[in-house]
Amino acid sequence: MTNAPAKISIGDKTVEAPVRSGTIGPDVVDIRKLYGQTGAFTFDPGFMSTAACESGLTYIDGDEGILLHRGYPIGQLAEQSSFLEVCYLLLNGELPSKGELDTFTRTITRHTMVHEQLSTFYRGFRRDAHPMAIMCGVVGALSAFYHDSTDIADPEQRRIASHRLIAKMPTIAAMAYKYSVGQPFVYPDNKLSYTGNFLKMTFGVPAEEYVVHPAIEAAMDRIFILHADHEQNASTSTVRLAGSSGANPFACIAAGIACLWGPAHGGANEAALNMLREIGTPDRIPHYIARAKDKNDPFRLMGFGHRVYKNYDPRATVMQQTLREVFDALKLKDPVFDVALQLEEMALNDPYFIEKKLFPNVDFYSGVILSAIGFPTEMFTVLFALARTVGWVAQWNEMISDPEQKIGRPRQLYTGPVQRDYVAIDKR
Ligand code: SDX
Repeated sequence: MTNAPAKISIGDKTVEAPVRSGTIGPDVVDIRKLYGQTGAFTFDPGFMSTAACESGLTYIDGDEGILLHRGYPIGQLAEQSSFLEVCYLLLNGELPSKGELDTFTRTITRHTMVHEQLSTFYRGFRRDAHPMAIMCGVVGALSAFYHDSTDIADPEQRRIASHRLIAKMPTIAAMAYKYSVGQPFVYPDNKLSYTGNFLKMTFGVPAEEYVVHPAIEAAMDRIFILHADHEQNASTSTVRLAGSSGANPFACIAAGIACLWGPAHGGANEAALNMLREIGTPDRIPHYIARAKDKNDPFRLMGFGHRVYKNYDPRATVMQQTLREVFDALKLKDPVFDVALQLEEMALNDPYFIEKKLFPNVDFYSGVILSAIGFPTEMFTVLFALARTVGWVAQWNEMISDPEQKIGRPRQLYTGPVQRDYVAIDKR
């Protein structure tokens, strides 16, 4: 069905702009010719009403709290799939056959080692460096090691670079953790699953055998699934914009890591647990809710609210369920979980949060479970980056292979001084 065009009138000029429909979700007004026809730009600094691209990877319905990856609901993938299978799905568009998954798993497994020279990069950092700072540096440096997969015009090189990034992120992340605690790096173990291998590289030591705990392996794999991709979020948009200039994939992913680090984005999982620990006991919750509502107080409830979800983030639901399962399996208790549950309960019954449609997001519970598994708070966003690498890589591939792809170059509303002449310093 062809939509009637949008009519845009500016002054005495009226132009028509095509209205396009996707398979599901909001229509878009194609304003690519607007500036040429009217001399005016659209203005949307936070991209509140802007679709920056066409994509078939992930669909979010923020009002209904729906998240689909290539059409499959996140709840079903979290329950029935595995992270590597979701990686295959995001990269290739369809769920793999058993043979396809085995081949993909073997390929990723055999790319988990990093160039031995890469380990010297870590020694340049202070031991107390934030692991996200290390991730930005080391991942960006990968382009110095893997020149043979940086020609983005070659689909085969793009495929190899994509596999290298997905395969090596757990190794690089585990090495960042090991460096911070002064323990030796642990090499990958090809006998283990993707997630089991990551746990061993992180928590194993050469001095004794490391046995992967099945409940933790399953929980970690599900947490990776929950973080895999999320439409055109800030870090994915960063990767796309960096990639639009033709930058190599390693540099683009490093840019995505840098953006994800922000506390308004992937850094919120670290900030949310720090907030829950600062609250400490349920009786202190009202004070923090009051602060979150106070316009003069910059404090926000970390792990709450979302640009797109105006309903419960479906990932938060699965995260809370996973948290309960891990706590039950490991007989764990942490007062912070009780604080989180009561904070959620009180916030969701507070008119401020109801009116502004602020619900827990993926970052609200993730820190509680990651802390229980043994990760220090500073590693939380590293784990987010590890999992989101497949989303960034899939989105980057989708953009690069789009025949209409061009460099992203937004314009502006200029409000600075009009032209004026230089004044010699002795005349100022
Ligand atoms: C992620 O985009 C993605 O998909 C991201 C992500 C992904 O998977 O890639 O989902 C991952 O980044 C999740 C979000 C993690 N961030 C946080 O938990 C930090 C706390 N949340 C906020 O900073 C905020 O909610 C954002 C950044 C997430 C969204 O901000 P918006 O869409 O720009 O909305 P806003 O800041 O304009 O807030 C709207 C109103 C404001 O009040 P008014 O100015 O209208 O009076 O809601 C208020 C805000 O003050 N508000 C909050 C709040 N979040 C928004 N008030 C208290 N606590 C909060 N957490």
